[in-house]
Amino acid sequence: MASYSSLLALMMSILVLRDVSAGNFYQDFDITWGDGRAKIIDNGDLLTLSLDKASGSGFQSKNEFLFGKIDMQLKLVPGNSAGTVTAYYLSSQGPTHDEIDFEFLGNISGDPYILHTNVFSLGKGNREQQFYLWFDPTADFHTYSILWNPQRIIFSVDGTPIREFKNSESIGVPYPKSQPMRIYSSLWNADDWATRGGIVKTDWSQAPFTASYRNFNANACVWSSGSSSCSSNSPPSTSTHAWLNEELDSTGQERLKWVQKNYMIYNYCTDAKRFPQGFPSECTINSTS
Ligand SMILES: *[C@@H]1O[C@H](CO)[C@@H](O)[C@H](O)[C@H]1NC(C)=O
Repeated sequence: MASYSSLLALMMSILVLRDVSAGNFYQDFDITWGDGRAKIIDNGDLLTLSLDKASGSGFQSKNEFLFGKIDMQLKLVPGNSAGTVTAYYLSSQGPTHDEIDFEFLGNISGDPYILHTNVFSLGKGNREQQFYLWFDPTADFHTYSILWNPQRIIFSVDGTPIREFKNSESIGVPYPKSQPMRIYSSLWNADDWATRGGIVKTDWSQAPFTASYRNFNANACVWSSGSSSCSSNSPPSTSTHAWLNEELDSTGQERLKWVQKNYMIYNYCTDAKRFPQGFPSECTINSTS
């Protein structure tokens, strides 16, 4: 009897441990390239990517998702990171793929990184917005989040929304909503364009360059064998899937305006030279898209 209850206690604690380790890199991600330059360490709590002259490295999620609220903490390449790009994004596959991008363009020590964002739907992107950050992204971990639901995509940094891309299907703009996406990340050399438009090259004497990841968290609909974990027989309770209808409240809208006024350095929706025939349709429906 005693051994039975201690066995039960052991089983319970294993279950609890399993639950706590949700968000473990071993469990949720595969290293896909880089020949040993990407590493999962600290029992799966930390992942590092590195780049040297011979190669960069990358990883991808085991799961595919169709909508989700996905957080990851990143600490970017410190010091002279000029020429390096750390990409963290969601993407589906194929020529008409959908994609939601964060890309961090490195810089020489003390000069600001650029956070580059883009949204592709049915293979078409060209929707860049770029930002400086209001902190040094190499000094500590910060949380970069993508909320992707049927109505909107919201990019956030430490909980502050920096970009909203609304569903504009009503005016004929395709919206990512039917192709499941995986999470991808990579660290690579892009010194032909990344830093000051390619003027500043990667200083290989500083290699290897390293970026770190921790505290992955996904509230998401997992797509598997053609069906979504969110459309099971029992209807999802609104509390567990609140993000499926989430929108910016008035505080969020104020924060978004603050970022766009003070930290946005490029917006395709205001680049008149690039669109002499008129701005893309979604720019008219949503001046901040
Ligand atoms: C790097 O620093 C320069 C000079 O401050 C700045 O113009 C540029 O936007 C910064 N970021 C990148 C990625 O080039």
